[in-house]
Amino acid sequence: MSAVVSPELAPDGVNGAKQRRNSTILNPRTYLTPEIWKQAPVLTGSTKFEPLDDARNILVTGGAGFIACWFVRHLTLTYPDHYNVISFDKLDYCASLNNTRILDERPNFTFEQGDITSPSEVKKVLRKHKIDTIFHFAAQSHVDLSFGNSYQFTNTNVYGTHVLLERAREHGIARFIHISTDEVYGDVPIGAADLSEASLLAPTNPYSASKAAAEMMVSAYRNSFKLPLITVRSNNVFGPHQFPEKIIPKFIMLLQRRSKLLLHGDGSPTRRYVYAGDIVDALDTIFHKGVFGQVYNIASKDEISNTDICHRLLDIFEIPHQTSTELQKWVQRTEDRPFNDQRYATDGSKLAALGWEPKTSFDDGLKTTVDWYRRFGEVWWGDITRILTSFPVVEGTEIWTKEEHDALPSDEELIQEESGIGTVWTKKAWDHLQASGETD
Ligand SMILES: NC(=O)c1ccc[n+]([C@@H]2O[C@H](COP(=O)([O-])OP(=O)(O)OC[C@H]3O[C@@H](n4cnc5c(N)ncnc54)[C@H](O)[C@@H]3O)[C@@H](O)[C@H]2O)c1
Repeated sequence: MSAVVSPELAPDGVNGAKQRRNSTILNPRTYLTPEIWKQAPVLTGSTKFEPLDDARNILVTGGAGFIACWFVRHLTLTYPDHYNVISFDKLDYCASLNNTRILDERPNFTFEQGDITSPSEVKKVLRKHKIDTIFHFAAQSHVDLSFGNSYQFTNTNVYGTHVLLERAREHGIARFIHISTDEVYGDVPIGAADLSEASLLAPTNPYSASKAAAEMMVSAYRNSFKLPLITVRSNNVFGPHQFPEKIIPKFIMLLQRRSKLLLHGDGSPTRRYVYAGDIVDALDTIFHKGVFGQVYNIASKDEISNTDICHRLLDIFEIPHQTSTELQKWVQRTEDRPFNDQRYATDGSKLAALGWEPKTSFDDGLKTTVDWYRRFGEVWWGDITRILTSFPVVEGTEIWTKEEHDALPSDEELIQEESGIGTVWTKKAWDHLQASGETD
């Protein structure tokens, strides 16, 4: 674990992004310059409840990522005298300390870099900050990547959740809120009823399978050890601060660059969307009013197809797209995911009974989101060019286009080419040696 590095220590390059072997390495520790930073709006939810007596020190895993950063800002700024918020994040490729920079001087906010798959790091942070409440967001969250890198998804989402649960049990936690997804239910045919929390889990891709498997572990700890757990399954979330690998920010940034939208398959799958400010209010509601042992869907009625997202964004950017010729100029169909659920549809009445309902319409949320990305999308994370391509490949914080990655030499070829020696090196060890200058 380590403290936040100062901006002066950030590495060289465009906002910290370095180029190497036809790839981009993102640096989530890099800070924006103050001139840009000061212009950014401070985005939170809008709810405020009577603080809980038995909650004081709250660990938020994945706090430098999209949804959790909204929640961290909300808790820190809405409950300054009641809750201490500890953001615990590995700082993966999609994270950014810019997401919580506004909080750095706040006495009730701390950032700790750490990995949920490390039992010792989790134990240390729980003890150091006398944690009584955990909000568990940290995950590998991008479905597209889960088809190519599924071990990473199982490791983070299943094993990482297991580590947190076990350490939480040993530590004696008062409250553990686990963030899951509507994707665990699998595809819901058109015309079928919206699914309640009691529905069977039937995930269909490695991401959703890893999230469902994590839920099984949550369920086991609830039953075996009576851990005070609540599980939350949300629809798709969108809004400012989302890493531009996901469809809405990616398409905004492509249009911003006057590039074509890269639409997977026929564009017909739909998703239901919740604005980030609304999910924060939902989580705040569940935190203060939710019942242990329960599962809550966070559900919206805004069901939008991928094609429809293209149309709405082209409207906002005032780009003509009425005729098929105009549309073809701006929308390019690409290969689809190996498998793509047609739709998810969940019923939110259980959470509505606690008093939550979405306040932001899809169109209003989209306009706010476009405005934010127009101002900050190019600088917030560093060089996102490769992320904006179709099916980029991510390893750690290093990004390639699919074509670049396909053209990379195999580990064996690379080692033979670069070492000129007979010893069998792993590529990782060779990279390490090169970086340390020992091969010169
Ligand atoms: N984005 C959505 O539409 C959506 C919808 C439903 C549920 N969810 C769930 O919400 C949660 C947050 O999603 P998001 O879109 O904000 O994700 P994100 O990808 O923006 O952020 C994930 C964060 O987790 C961190 N992380 C990854 N591995 C880690 C590890 N081993 N240890 C510590 N930190 C680690 C990353 O650095 C990153 O900051 C996830 O659990 C996701 O499954 C997301």
